[in-house]
Amino acid sequence: VEETYIMVKPDGVQRGLVGEIISRFEKKGFKLKALKLFQCPKELAEEHYKDLKAKSFYPKLIDYITSGPVVSMAWEGVGVVASARKLIGSTDPLQAEPGTIRGDLAVQTGRNVIHGSDSPDNGKREVGLWFKEDEICQWTPAQAPWLRE
Ligand code: GTP
Ligand code: MG
Repeated sequence: VEETYIMVKPDGVQRGLVGEIISRFEKKGFKLKALKLFQCPKELAEEHYKDLKAKSFYPKLIDYITSGPVVSMAWEGVGVVASARKLIGSTDPLQAEPGTIRGDLAVQTGRNVIHGSDSPDNGKREVGLWFKEDEICQWTPAQAPWLRE
């Protein structure tokens, strides 16, 4: 089954948005597999964002992501990667639709409160990068038969 790595960035933690953000994924009906509050070391931030290394904003991005604790999550479900990206909204919060997390809760790309994997392959890669095997729970939510026929 598909999985995605979702992270409340340091601004989201500092602004007290953790509960609100988790709640949106819970209510949608995806399954939480792993969750931790975590101070990201610089090396991990660099590995996570290695595809953006050439960008002018990359040093600022690494400073931002390591500036305070993040909340790391793995969510599972059919179509979860693309659906999570829709729930999150466009990278630039001013372009993000109302109703999305960034559209409702942020005003600037450099403080866009949340990360979501951009493909199923990257979902797997990032969950493996941010979590150890024994931090991931295999379980069956009681509501499963009420979410999918
Ligand atoms: P993530 O879910 O965090 O990966 O965001 P994204 O997939 O919507 O955007 P992308 O992967 O292209 O960029 C990763 C992150 O880098 C963004 O979420 C922003 O935090 C940051 N970023 C991207 N573009 C800019 C920019 O032009 N300026 C600044 N300051 N930050 C940027
Ligand atoms: Mg991205």
